[in-house]
Amino acid sequence: MSKSMWGGRFTKTTDAMMEEFNSSISFDKRMYREDIAGSMAHAAMLARCGILTDAEAATIRQGLQDILADIEAGNFSFEVSLEDIHMNIEKRLTERIGAVGGKLHTARSRNDQVAVDTHMYVRREIGEIANLLEDLQKAFVEAAQNNLQVIMPGYTHLQRAQPILFSHHMMAYFFMLARDFERLQGVQRRTDILPLGAGALAGTTFPIDRHYVAEQLGFAQVYQNSLDAVSDRDYILEFLSFASILMVHLSRISEEIILWSSAEFAFIELDDAHCTGSSIMPQKKNPDMAELVRGKSGRVIGHLMAMLTTVKGLPLAYNKDLQEDKEGLFDAIDTIKFSLAVYAAMIRGLRVRQEKMEQAVRHDFSNATDMADYLVKKGLPFRQAHEVVGKTVRYCIEQEKWLMDLSIAEFQQFSPLFEADILEAIKVETCVENRNSFGGTSPAQVKLAMEAAEEIIRKQQSFLDMYTKNDI
Ligand code: ARG
Repeated sequence: MSKSMWGGRFTKTTDAMMEEFNSSISFDKRMYREDIAGSMAHAAMLARCGILTDAEAATIRQGLQDILADIEAGNFSFEVSLEDIHMNIEKRLTERIGAVGGKLHTARSRNDQVAVDTHMYVRREIGEIANLLEDLQKAFVEAAQNNLQVIMPGYTHLQRAQPILFSHHMMAYFFMLARDFERLQGVQRRTDILPLGAGALAGTTFPIDRHYVAEQLGFAQVYQNSLDAVSDRDYILEFLSFASILMVHLSRISEEIILWSSAEFAFIELDDAHCTGSSIMPQKKNPDMAELVRGKSGRVIGHLMAMLTTVKGLPLAYNKDLQEDKEGLFDAIDTIKFSLAVYAAMIRGLRVRQEKMEQAVRHDFSNATDMADYLVKKGLPFRQAHEVVGKTVRYCIEQEKWLMDLSIAEFQQFSPLFEADILEAIKVETCVENRNSFGGTSPAQVKLAMEAAEEIIRKQQSFLDMYTKNDI
């Protein structure tokens, strides 16, 4: 076994089992680009501050460039014995350019190095996730647009409550996701802080320029405190919180997609390409994608709990426990990206069964509130109106009729305030039309909501543009 980076103090090499337990290369290798970018900026800064010569920095930067090319070409073998991505790259650098490679780690520690790598990695992924999230928001707006006037039952307690527009329901999802987008922007702000230059924990004796490094790497801020810089994992906790809430949103939507796809509801039909069949039951068409997303919310929430538990009780500054921050983070990133992409396609592919929704809404009592409101508008206190309509509904149930089937004479048995216009007032179209309060389900309000959505998307765009402009 080769001598390790800290070989000076040791008389024995690390036990093979311990070495494997200790290593993180199997998962942190995915941060190779960030590790190299961080090292390039660090080397440039060391030269600028006179800590390395320009020639040394140039040699180091060329070496790193070559290593990047090797990794991307698949010509780099990652060694468990070299523990992590940082030491794998540094070791290869020294092999390529000789002893000068050993100067790269001047005024740096793996503690601030891993921190900067992870910050950059999360920052980059946030850009990709924001794009995927916005695409799903747009898919919901499209679903609303394409089914603007479709009426369906709205539910409370999963019991039919009041008629709503399907487009209103789709826009509810849009606004849920708009909050996720906002949350993600907050996570981005608290990720976009440079920890490099904190050294192991206390800063460094070399005259470094952290702000120059921040500029090179496109960081908006520099950590004010070196202990905080290497210990902070709040941005990961926040990212996982964002991811958990997002997955909970997708899981709730999944629950509806699954219900609506059932024969009992039959409100929608998913595209064949987004469903699977059964190996035994030939008739089956299962909404697996929605079920999987609902299921995967569990693992993302699990990663948040794991990370909170890992950090809880850790003294400052770096502790090896913090190496446990990555696998859950990476899995959460992969899971939400995949889920968002699958979801956008699934929503774009779903067919709305307008006739089924309308049939459902016409064959229930979800216009009962409107009937009460009718009486209230004629001067009856709402509580009394509620009582009158309740009795009318009971009568209908006994007679096996719907409210719309009653004659004026029958209506008038319950209140003399009923007149011929009652039938118009409780038509489902009227019920929807009349819910014209701000944020309500009327077509006019849904159109306003869609305009508001356009404005939100425009604002989100400037966040996305920042990524394109800065290439981070
Ligand atoms: N692989 C380590 C991690 O992910 C890098 C930092 C190691 N620092 C240390 N002092 N052992 O946290």
